Amino acid sequence: MITFDSKTNIFYLNTKTTTYAFGILEDTALVHLYWGKRLHNGISVEWTQDHEVWDENNRCVYYKSRGAKDLGKYTTHDLPLEFDTFGSADMRYPTFHALHKDGSRITKLKYKDFEILSGKPSLEGLPATYYEEGDKVDTLIIHLEDELKKVDVYLQYSVFEEYDAITRSNKIVNRGENIFVTSALSTTLDFIGNGNMDIIHLDGAWGRERTIVRNKILTGDQHIESRTGASSSDRNPFIAVCDSSATETQGNVYGFSFVYSGNFIAGVDQTPFYNTRVYIGINPFDFRYKLETNEYFQTPETVLVYSSKGLGEMSRIYHKLYRTRLCRGKYRDAERFVVLNHWEAYRFAFDEEKLVEMARKGADIGVDLFVLDDGWFGKRDNDRSSLGDWKVHTKKLPNGLGGLAKKINDMGLRFGLWFEPEMISPVSELYEKHPDWALHVPGIESSQYRFQLVLDLSRKDVCDYVIESVSDILNSANIEYVKWDMNRYISEAGSALLPPDRQGEVVHRYMLGLYYIMETLVTRYPDILFESCASGGGRFDPGMLYYMPQVWTSDCSDAVSRLSIQYGTSIVYPYSTMAAHVSAVPNHQMKRTTSFDMRCNVAMVGQFGFELDLNNCTEEELDAARNAIIKYRKLGPVFHNGTNYRLCSPFETNVSAIEFVSEDENTVICSINSKFAVANAERMHIRLQGLSEDSEYVLEDNGRIYGGDYLMNYGIPFCNNAENKSAVLVFTKKVGG
Ligand code: DGJ
Repeated sequence: MITFDSKTNIFYLNTKTTTYAFGILEDTALVHLYWGKRLHNGISVEWTQDHEVWDENNRCVYYKSRGAKDLGKYTTHDLPLEFDTFGSADMRYPTFHALHKDGSRITKLKYKDFEILSGKPSLEGLPATYYEEGDKVDTLIIHLEDELKKVDVYLQYSVFEEYDAITRSNKIVNRGENIFVTSALSTTLDFIGNGNMDIIHLDGAWGRERTIVRNKILTGDQHIESRTGASSSDRNPFIAVCDSSATETQGNVYGFSFVYSGNFIAGVDQTPFYNTRVYIGINPFDFRYKLETNEYFQTPETVLVYSSKGLGEMSRIYHKLYRTRLCRGKYRDAERFVVLNHWEAYRFAFDEEKLVEMARKGADIGVDLFVLDDGWFGKRDNDRSSLGDWKVHTKKLPNGLGGLAKKINDMGLRFGLWFEPEMISPVSELYEKHPDWALHVPGIESSQYRFQLVLDLSRKDVCDYVIESVSDILNSANIEYVKWDMNRYISEAGSALLPPDRQGEVVHRYMLGLYYIMETLVTRYPDILFESCASGGGRFDPGMLYYMPQVWTSDCSDAVSRLSIQYGTSIVYPYSTMAAHVSAVPNHQMKRTTSFDMRCNVAMVGQFGFELDLNNCTEEELDAARNAIIKYRKLGPVFHNGTNYRLCSPFETNVSAIEFVSEDENTVICSINSKFAVANAERMHIRLQGLSEDSEYVLEDNGRIYGGDYLMNYGIPFCNNAENKSAVLVFTKKVGG
């Protein structure tokens, strides 16, 4: 619920358990006052006095003369602000920065007025969380204005009351002469005087995505960013700040997740007074966006989550919100498919016969859908050609996709297809016809990566080509799943259509173009399940999840590596979004051999599938696969829609233990896997969470009965004394227990 107290000039954004509050200071600045546990009695009438802090020379470092009626009379240096522009003696990262026609870089935005709406307006052209009829969601729009430069900014705060989450974004409207926006962050937020905080983010690389990193916040600046044109495998558009003492289960944690798939920045800037500004938004690096008179710029949104109960609770809030109010379409709720993907089995070296044979084995073990990955189009016999030529490779597939899909369908399987629509190979018919459709800078040779260039999606004609060429293929056969891949980052980001003074817009316009393509396709093909991929998890972000409810989590399919990758991913993203497949051993990426059981157990917590030639499996392994699918069909809804608890971190120990409690709280699953065996290993106790203390739980394997309090306090003994120890323990709450 959003309220405004006109006596104190304070806005309250209340969720079920949290309060976020800020006040209007002397009709001018918006001062951030509080974000934390729900306040039931509000903030003192004299709140402005709390913000006077005097330095050693007896100067007020927040704002001087109380009673002063305009911003010129005091300084916002170190004042906790909701929105900050350059030029107010505040030296921290501003939320907004622009270059004006007269050369000035100063925009003095003052509070003007506000309105409160019920529901949440969508963000034009951008992915965002949404509300549904019956949800308790309100939106506050605050209008700031620079009268001199005729620039307006509208801050949008939406409160998801039952979800305990708040979203923020800003719209910048230029009514004056042309300006260049050089920074338009989505959120800056100031924490007051706490020198004991940590920053957490998800670091990584290809095949090692979303490693949890935690550092102490020190004075000065500390940030992560992507300059790759994608959210990237190296960094994820998310940070949390927390008490230094916060753990999985206790302490104050504040999450900031950015709903965007391109260049971003997220960081903390701590002043000498130990006030910490958190900032997150589109990366100002290589960004310069021209706004002519009456043009506007909409920033993507940030999703803010506060937890007083540690990191685990923060993640659970994100999981629920992203699963049900970010992911959309039929497959948000509908059961997804157990997939058999051809890639790691044959890569480019396949023909129709091989695929059919492979699919037949898939049908035999009970998979739902066969995916034809890279190599089915143009003259694609390796990765050196044909991206952009979305026509069937008839030498490999003489009966076309229609013929292959029919054979697959006749086995009782569905058929899915891989695309990489954002790319163009220099060796392709498309490039011969339209060399200027690739992002490039005239006169400069473009860098290639995997022998490919990036299409210029800032151009509408190129976007429309992508939409229509992909649609032609989707219309040509019974295709029920699409894997949307993207295998290189953006460089030499120039567009042949944009004028010189708009070239700084290309990377963001590319993202808008991609979102336009995705929106068109998911609307046109509501029955197709789209899966996002970028060399694995190189674009695992909330922006992509708005269009595609699952992501190929990583190209590293090794079960041991996946323990950390999936655990790290779960900091923000629910298991329902993580595609995870059983692959061959020795593993293609790590050369490691793990047991078939462990590979199944690790993969089945995500969107389950197989990525190996089942013709090379033993009868025993095929039986194990068959049983794993049966088990998955039963347990999948609990992994995906249940409440997730992280019990034991593979980043800190040799063991990963995660727990899921079903929505009705009657089923509890604990998935325990060891990374490496240790001699004379410690006897661990994996303590469950979120059970009912007074209830009894029956362990499915042997019928033993345990008290909820026992499982949560004594725990499950586990000794990491052998390679590939892997268990999926299923407990059922005793009726009336
Ligand atoms: C990268 C993906 O992550 C893989 O799964 C596979 O689809 C290849 N691209 C195909 O080129």
